[in-house]
Amino acid sequence: MTYQPQPDFGTPQGSGAPVTLTIDGREVTVPAGTSVMRAAAELGTSIPKLCATDNMKAFGSCRLCLVEVEGRRGTPASCTTPAEAGMVVRTQTPQLAKLRKGVMELYISDHPLDCLTCAANGDCELQDQAGAVGLREVRYGAGENHLGQAKDLSNPYFDFDPSKCIVCSRCVRACDEVQGTFALTIDGMGFGSKVSAGTSADDFLSSECVSCGACVQACPTATLQERAVVEVGTPDRSVVTTCAYCGVGCTFRAEMRGEQLVRMVPWKDGKANRGHSCVKGRFAWGYANHQERILSPMIRESIDQPWREVSWDEALGHAASEIRRIQAKYGKDSVGGITSSRCTNEETFLVQKLVRAGFGNNNVDTCARVCHSPTGYGLKTTFGTSAGTQDFDSVEQCDVMLVIGANPTDGHPVFASRMKRRLRQGAKLIVIDPRRIDLVRTPHIEADHHLPLRPGTNVAVLTAMAHVIVTEGLADEAFVRARCDWDEYRHWADFVSLDRNSPEALAPVTMVDPQELRAAARLYATGGNAAIYYGLGVTEHSQGSSTVMAIANLAMATGNIGRPGVGVNPLRGQNNVQGACDMGSFPHELSGYRHISDDAARAMFEADWGVVLDPEPGLRIPNMLDAACDGTFKALYVQGEDILQSDPNTRHVSAGLAAMECVIVHDLFLNETANYAHIFLPGSTFLEKNGTFTNAERRIQPVRKVMTPMNGMEDWEVTQALANAMGLGWDYTHSAEIMDEIARLTPTFAGVSFDRLDELGSMQWPVTAATPEGTPTMHIDGFVRGKGKFVVTDYIPTDEKTGPRFPLLLTTGRILSQYNVGAQTRRTANVVWHEEDLLEIHPADAEDRGLKTGDWVRLASRSGETTLRATVTDRVAPGVVYTTFHHPATQANVVTTDYSDWATNCPEYKVTAVQVAASNGPSDWQERYDALTERSRRIEAAE
Ligand code: SF4
Ligand code: SF4
Ligand code: SF4
Ligand code: FES
Repeated sequence: MTYQPQPDFGTPQGSGAPVTLTIDGREVTVPAGTSVMRAAAELGTSIPKLCATDNMKAFGSCRLCLVEVEGRRGTPASCTTPAEAGMVVRTQTPQLAKLRKGVMELYISDHPLDCLTCAANGDCELQDQAGAVGLREVRYGAGENHLGQAKDLSNPYFDFDPSKCIVCSRCVRACDEVQGTFALTIDGMGFGSKVSAGTSADDFLSSECVSCGACVQACPTATLQERAVVEVGTPDRSVVTTCAYCGVGCTFRAEMRGEQLVRMVPWKDGKANRGHSCVKGRFAWGYANHQERILSPMIRESIDQPWREVSWDEALGHAASEIRRIQAKYGKDSVGGITSSRCTNEETFLVQKLVRAGFGNNNVDTCARVCHSPTGYGLKTTFGTSAGTQDFDSVEQCDVMLVIGANPTDGHPVFASRMKRRLRQGAKLIVIDPRRIDLVRTPHIEADHHLPLRPGTNVAVLTAMAHVIVTEGLADEAFVRARCDWDEYRHWADFVSLDRNSPEALAPVTMVDPQELRAAARLYATGGNAAIYYGLGVTEHSQGSSTVMAIANLAMATGNIGRPGVGVNPLRGQNNVQGACDMGSFPHELSGYRHISDDAARAMFEADWGVVLDPEPGLRIPNMLDAACDGTFKALYVQGEDILQSDPNTRHVSAGLAAMECVIVHDLFLNETANYAHIFLPGSTFLEKNGTFTNAERRIQPVRKVMTPMNGMEDWEVTQALANAMGLGWDYTHSAEIMDEIARLTPTFAGVSFDRLDELGSMQWPVTAATPEGTPTMHIDGFVRGKGKFVVTDYIPTDEKTGPRFPLLLTTGRILSQYNVGAQTRRTANVVWHEEDLLEIHPADAEDRGLKTGDWVRLASRSGETTLRATVTDRVAPGVVYTTFHHPATQANVVTTDYSDWATNCPEYKVTAVQVAASNGPSDWQERYDALTERSRRIEAAE
């Protein structure tokens, strides 16, 4: 698509009853509450404007948008004047033209006249509006002005040039209203007023700014400007695609100049993000052309030999013959594959097809194993569908948010901004988390209840909440009788009512104040529409599946399911973790969550694929590694996943990988797993492929090829070439054909096709004949499984215990600027915000050990140890320490254990008994990584 700016209607649309008015002699009907400016824009009439933009409230400061209204005195601003029935408006009169020209003349007289050399030339609203009002000359001489002020170049992605600022305050309002960070202010008065990044900060980088880019997008001048536009030039075409980082699934316009990506601009029509973005999707795409990307296939005989570049044919031929050789020698079940939650649905589908149809077994698993597999199990058991129940828009009708085991401002930042907006409007907030996450207290938001539980006691806290709800008569029994299995409910209600499940009885276990817990339970049950949002702090436990079911029990018992504003909402981690699960990546399930032992489902696939499928479930990732250590599992194809860094108990993972005879890594970079690989197949980035991702709200969204794959092939083409090297004879010519096959074989995707996605933008599954445009809210008239199922969730403490040797509990999480194992974000300028993983420790625990912020500490568990620097903070409770796992130099998973969820094997990342002690610095293996990081930095600096 050639470059066109996104349309801007000036102000948001109203939501009242329709009103009809006349503008410049033409009638228009708009919802009450719509501004005259927007009503005119709906007619195609563009009223000059500077301070208004349609994703925030009108401000009325620039006085450029004046109009005349019959029967009214003066010339009101059209952006702040609501449309009214019968109103007669004129937007173009000689008087208005004169007034607008005068206003614009004042702006331009204090603006550098360097349009021809300005980076925003041709893409600047001030320039456009000066033209629109017909300004040709400026009468005012050189008086006092703001020209020549120093630029703030501190942010790695955008510049702030105050000499170009017209003090329209769009940036300040974007930061407040859209992002919710409140990092910017207008300092001073009148002529002296200026935009400032916070009151105490010197510049953007040291301010509260989280680099979301909303202010840059809002700025109508080149005052706030992406540095890439300065360096590369303004874009000349754009392609709409989907972010490849987190499960929010923001839609962006990739704005290009030729084959070069200039900027990613959040797309206003994106239904997940509604025009907003975070620092990762907006700016951290530079890894796509990082010089460490591997673009040629490589092989080596053994992992102690150097890599040798080879042709695609040689690499794929070698991979196919190795798989066949190993199967001939060790049996067909000695090989398997891992699909990626970072790749598209189509690519994931093909990898599991390769395993089932080509390898002839069901040894396929995915990284959801280590994050949200308990969500699949728990929600399927209770509701009948392995997915969240709502869309993101639902939050706008929510009265009470219960956030448990999630840190949305870091992990799901764009959705967090929508949550914060709703909270500022008055919704109540309950946070259940061992840490005082940002949502607990952030500008203009304070949680009504924060329950800082002891890690590992989610089930006990939720059961205690259920105890309060049932014993105080707060359950919605009418809902339960109508929608759920009543006998199961009674059984569950009797269980939670036991004295041993009261908040008081469980307080010694949970460490939560019983009165606070009681108050939180009452609020959840009686505060109106209540929605639960949860993350990996729920699932990555030995009782992960129990916690998901305890959440579902609470929602059903209070009737908070089946309508907008309520529900159970898993905040999915990776961009396509929902999709990877949907596509049949688990060893026991075909796409659409049909069990492999289901004869009818298997028969469908067998008829379509022309093969006989094994009815027995295959191995999960931990079972594959165990079998490798036992000598029965010998070859693995891993697409887009770094199991050595992301999976628990690194020592065990490396032992398993080292025991295999053929490890095929298909990735962008030589990751940690590739240290154990024999064949490396270069991967392609999301910018280089066509396909779809499915976000946390079950929304299937297009991923569109923005540039030619640097390695020559999209990832699905590589998998197809490997399949064909094994003799499978696949002949897809485009990823759309793979989606057609998915739709043919998966009832919940029956109505999905690339053409429909182009038409509608996105669709939430199930997409069936009955719901051809998708399903925003699940379980409206009844649960997918029939009656909602209550499950008794007895609290069973984890086997991972603290004691004299390991007295503290470690829990792990993410930080905003980095993503997962950091393979991508560490290769961008995002490292300025997080150069290393740090250990948060409470002041009392730090004092006991003589530690202060910045000290090196040794973090040791029963599994292993690592060294990192400490941050002393009361964000964590006494007895709890916390770190992120983004840097291979730290490898937090050296410390985590083999304990896992009883139902799904999801690892217990969130609870590890550890000891922390002062240290002299990193160990030898860590220094190796420091040297590597340093090398990357030097290369970047030289570029
Ligand atoms: S920086 Fe841009 S958006 Fe902010 S006040 Fe100045 S001109 Fe307006
Ligand atoms: S980039 Fe985002 S957080 Fe930073 S000042 Fe702009 S709007 Fe606020
Ligand atoms: S919130 Fe998630 S999907 Fe959206 S831009 Fe950030 S990383 Fe991408
Ligand atoms: S656009 Fe209406 S006053 Fe600025």
